[in-house]
Amino acid sequence: MALGTTATRVLFAILPLVLGSVRVAAVPRATRSMRRADTSFLNPASVTTLSSSEVSAFEPYEQLARAAYCSSSSVTDWSCGEACSAVSGFETTTAGGDGDSIQLYYVGYWPSENAVVVAHQGTDPTQFLSDLTDVDIATENLNSTLFPGVSSSVWVHSGFANEQAQTASIVLEATQSIIASKGATTVICVGHSLGGALAELDAVFFTLNLPSDIQVVGRTFGTPRVGNPAWASLVDSSVPDFTRMNNVDDPIPIVPGRALGFQHPETELHVVSDDTYEVVACPGNDDATDSDCTISSVPNIFDADLLNHLGPYPGGIHMGTIYCT
Ligand SMILES: *[C@@H]1O[C@H](CO)[C@@H](O)[C@H](O)[C@H]1NC(C)=O
Repeated sequence: MALGTTATRVLFAILPLVLGSVRVAAVPRATRSMRRADTSFLNPASVTTLSSSEVSAFEPYEQLARAAYCSSSSVTDWSCGEACSAVSGFETTTAGGDGDSIQLYYVGYWPSENAVVVAHQGTDPTQFLSDLTDVDIATENLNSTLFPGVSSSVWVHSGFANEQAQTASIVLEATQSIIASKGATTVICVGHSLGGALAELDAVFFTLNLPSDIQVVGRTFGTPRVGNPAWASLVDSSVPDFTRMNNVDDPIPIVPGRALGFQHPETELHVVSDDTYEVVACPGNDDATDSDCTISSVPNIFDADLLNHLGPYPGGIHMGTIYCT
């Protein structure tokens, strides 16, 4: 009896340790390797067509980027319509902006991914295209308080840098707070249009300001070029799990022009067709040679279709102010 009790006690003492160590060792790794397996298309050596399951895995990110256009009150209680319903269990902790001097944004916890999501709203595409085709685009080095240790050879679009700086400390604090309260291990930066440019800046910003064991991921849509080749290299080295999806003949991803010294980071995902949602992953930074990638598909803004900027992205998802339904 006494022996039995002791044995039972020992068993009960050991069980949580055994299960606990199995859980700690296996569960997060399984989750993470699933994410990594989903991203074998990152920076391919040559143009690679994504499988249909790889393509549909982007739909939650599309919905999260779409939700950034919705009112702060509707993302706070996660009642922003289709975009919110599509991502169940999401817990927004911070939302703000006014859609004018500061683009709307939100930060929240995505339980199924054990991830923090940081999202920024895009802008009116017609005005945006006209701003980004201006040959006198102001550029600047990154603020060294926000981006410590970044080389002075890096420069980015001044308007994007200023916009990112406006919410940088708010979204960082909100993210740190979710990491502390939930044990989130990943931060996913999403956005469409101008929101994509802000997500690209945020992604690097987070790698410089969060512990190195936090994985930072970028998922952007219809993103313009943000900075020069040194910036693109910084994104490539600090955020290897970064994708920018371009829809068919959208002109925004080809501006500001490479002739002005701008370059995209890896990995371009080009939606080749809105009928089949065939998506290819393109090699390099700004693939100008493969016909299925954006530069060859959209050689200039006159051979483009600005409506493609809004969608439909895979799954039939549109992004823009009128799509918060
Ligand atoms: C850089 O960012 C910090 C923190 O937001 C701010 O206090 C400072 O004024 C910025 N510096 C410049 C030159 O904009």
